[in-house]
Amino acid sequence: MRIGLLGCGTVGSALMALLASERDWLHERVGEELEVARILVRDPARDRGPYVDRALLTTSAEAIWSDPEIEVVVELLGPDPLARRAIVAALEAGKSVVTANKELLSTDFQVLSTLAASVGRDIFFEAAVAGGIPLVRALRVSLLGERISRVVGIINGTTNFILTRMQDHGEGFLDALSEARRLGYAEADPSGDISGRDAASKLAIIASIAFGLEVSVDDVRVEGIEGLTEADARFAERNGQVIKLLATAERTADEQGPLVHVEVAPALVDRSHPLAHVGGPDNAVYLQGGAVGQLLFQGPGAGGMPTASAVLADVIDASRNLRAGVCARALVADRGRLGGSDRKRRRFAISLDVEDRPGVLATVSQVFGRHGVSIARMEQEEMSEDSAHLVFLTHDTTLATIDATLGDVGELPVVRALHALIRVLA
Ligand SMILES: NC(=O)c1ccc[n+]([C@@H]2O[C@H](COP(=O)([O-])OP(=O)(O)OC[C@H]3O[C@@H](n4cnc5c(N)ncnc54)[C@H](OP(=O)(O)O)[C@@H]3O)[C@@H](O)[C@H]2O)c1
Repeated sequence: MRIGLLGCGTVGSALMALLASERDWLHERVGEELEVARILVRDPARDRGPYVDRALLTTSAEAIWSDPEIEVVVELLGPDPLARRAIVAALEAGKSVVTANKELLSTDFQVLSTLAASVGRDIFFEAAVAGGIPLVRALRVSLLGERISRVVGIINGTTNFILTRMQDHGEGFLDALSEARRLGYAEADPSGDISGRDAASKLAIIASIAFGLEVSVDDVRVEGIEGLTEADARFAERNGQVIKLLATAERTADEQGPLVHVEVAPALVDRSHPLAHVGGPDNAVYLQGGAVGQLLFQGPGAGGMPTASAVLADVIDASRNLRAGVCARALVADRGRLGGSDRKRRRFAISLDVEDRPGVLATVSQVFGRHGVSIARMEQEEMSEDSAHLVFLTHDTTLATIDATLGDVGELPVVRALHALIRVLA
C-alpha cells in the first residue's frame, strides 16, 4: 500500500519512526507493506532524522494527489489552506484520506465526509480529537447502537495542565501558563487553547459524530480560562471540588423535539467525579449512553507518538477497506436541532472583585435578586485593603438569566473586575 504523506513535523516524523520500527510486525498485521512513497514539506533541506529518506521529500502537493500509485493520503499539515485543497483533490482522485486536522473538520466535517462517501473512499480522523485516545472510532463503530445522551470531556491538554497547577500548587494563571510553556505543553501563542476555541473545534467534531448532527465550531458557546484566579481555585478546594475546562454536548428536548446543546466553559467538578482526577496535560472523555451507561476514556491528548499511533490505525483501517472494496458510511444525518444551552436550568458560580466597603455586598446581591437569581452561598476573600474577591454560587437558573444578570452586575461602579462564569457539573 503506497502512502502519500502531507507534512512531516511533530506527528509526521513520529509516524515515519513508527512505520520504520514496527515494519515487520505491521506487514504481518496488515498483510502487505505500508510504504510511504512521497512526503510533502515546506523546507526539504531541513534534517528530519534517520527515519525520513530525503529522496522522498517534495514541495509539490500535486505530485502526491496526482500520483496514481498512491492510494492513501495522510494530511498532517496543520492550519494551512493547502490542507483542504489537498484533501479534496486526493478524494476526487480516488484516494482515501487520513487527517488530524481538527480546525478543518470543525467547519467542513459534513462536506468532506459526504465527498468521501460519494467517491467510495474513506476520510478518517481519529487523531483530530483527543490525540491518542481512540474516541472517534468508539463513537463511529463500537457505540453505533447507543443513543448517546451526554458527552463531557477534558479535551485540551494545555488548559488542563494550567488548571491542575493552579489547583495543586496554588499558582496564579500567568505563572501556571509560563510553566506550561517551559515544559512544552503550551505553544508560543496559547490563545486558541486558553480561550477554549481549540476545545470547541474538537467538541464540534465529537458532537457531529455522537449525535448525527451537523455541528460547527461557531455553534459552540465558548468561555475560556483566562479570567480564573487563584482565589477561584481556593473556593473550589474549600468545597471539595476542582475547576476543569469542560467541553459538553448534551441531548435535551423541548416542545418541538430533541435538541443538542454544545458548550465549552470552566466548571466546578466534585472530587468524587472521575474527571476531577484527570491531571496535567491528559485528556479524558466521559460518555453517557442509554444502554451502556457511563464510559470514561482517558489518555494522552497530544504528542507526536500517541497522535501518530491514532493516524497509523486510520491508515491500516483505510488500507483494509480499499482492499475489500468498501468504505465507511458518511456519518452525519440531520436528526435534531442545536440549541437549548441558554434555557437549561443548572447552578453557576460567579467570581468577581469588588470594593471592600460596607454595603457593597448588598448592592451586588440586589442585582441577583432583581433578576430572580437565588444565591445558595457566597464566599468572600480579602485581596487588599480596599478590595475583596467574591464568589456567588447560585441555585438552579438559566444561562440566559445569568447573562442578563452579569450584564447589570458589570455596570456597578463597585465592581472592579468580573472574572469568570463557572458552571457546576451536575
Ligand atoms: N502535535 C500534536 O501533538 C498533535 C496532536 C493532535 C493533532 N495534531 C494535528 O496534527 C497535524 C500536524 O501537527 P504537527 O504538530 O505535526 O505540525 P507541525 O509540526 O507544525 O508540522 C507541519 C508539517 O507540515 C508541513 N507544512 C505545513 N504547511 C505546508 C505547506 N503549505 N506546504 C508544504 N508543507 C507544509 C511542514 O513543513 P516543514 O517541516 O518544512 O516546515 C511540517 O513538516 C495538525 O493538524 C495538528 O492539529 C497534532
